[in-house]
Amino acid sequence: MTYQVTVEPTGDVVEVEDGQTLLDAALRQGVWLPFACGHGTCGTCKVQVLEGYADAGDASSFALMDSERDEGKLLACCCLPESDMVIEADIDVDPDFQGLPVEDYQGKVVLIEDLSPTIKHIRLELDRPMAFQAGQYINLHVPSIDSTRAFSIANPPSMSGIVDLHVRKVEGGAGTTWLHEELQVGQSLDVSGPYGQFFVRKSDPQGAIFIAGGSGLSSPESMIMDLLEQGDTRPIYLFQGARNKAELYHADYFYQLAEKHDNFHYIPALNAPLPEDAWEGFVGFVHEAVGQFFEQRCSGNKAYLCGPPPMIEAAISTLMQSRLFERDIHMEQFLTAA
Ligand code: FES
Repeated sequence: MTYQVTVEPTGDVVEVEDGQTLLDAALRQGVWLPFACGHGTCGTCKVQVLEGYADAGDASSFALMDSERDEGKLLACCCLPESDMVIEADIDVDPDFQGLPVEDYQGKVVLIEDLSPTIKHIRLELDRPMAFQAGQYINLHVPSIDSTRAFSIANPPSMSGIVDLHVRKVEGGAGTTWLHEELQVGQSLDVSGPYGQFFVRKSDPQGAIFIAGGSGLSSPESMIMDLLEQGDTRPIYLFQGARNKAELYHADYFYQLAEKHDNFHYIPALNAPLPEDAWEGFVGFVHEAVGQFFEQRCSGNKAYLCGPPPMIEAAISTLMQSRLFERDIHMEQFLTAA
């Protein structure tokens, strides 16, 4: 059984299979609906039912209150349509968002290597090319826990037949521990994607400030490679934060990139360098490096942040004190893969 769900105000029509969530069907058909967590806890995907009915699914009472259910609201990521429907969604699509459809792929592991003591590079060769925007992520099915984990794609879209992932081993995290300790070259994993709203606003010619911490380097790396490959001439700054030199991976690559491209600037920051690091670069947190570099004046740029929540919070505060508006700050918020 298939139901037709009309999305207002755009008038897009989504075909939803019996037992399929509205969000899953929409993303697979290239119809954009707002979402974040994807599993009923954040409330970002709330929609208003104008006609028809659906099973509300596993929506948490925090994300969808009883009074909202009574008003005919549903969470697109949980609800299972049970008739043709008309819904209204708060759709504010950025002109640079391509809305590429989500599809399922098989990814064969062709490379596993250490990037740092806690982060591995895993390269998957897909069974067919996946179109994505630099900065987006995939869901990777981890067989040992029969569940998916989200990882940003680290390679640029020009390398569409492969997916490079930077996987940090999360202490006590069953998914990332398995990927670090059990995964072997030659194994195949289920992949779906691309997902996410983290991408460069290319139509806006302002400079781009990328701030990355830990394995959060993956999406900025993809975005920067994509911009430079396309000959983009805007000023591009990469601030990369790490504890010490062993955790600062791909630094040589970015130093070389900065030598090759006049518009690319690389500023690494170590907050706890070891004596043997003989570090002569910036010492402190990555947001402090941003504040010092721009002397508290970041206007004329857009910022793209990817890293652990405390880094994101500190960076937002620095950027706003440095005269950047909230609308010019973009971030990847929900990539806490354990
Ligand atoms: Fe978070 Fe649906 S996306 S509740």
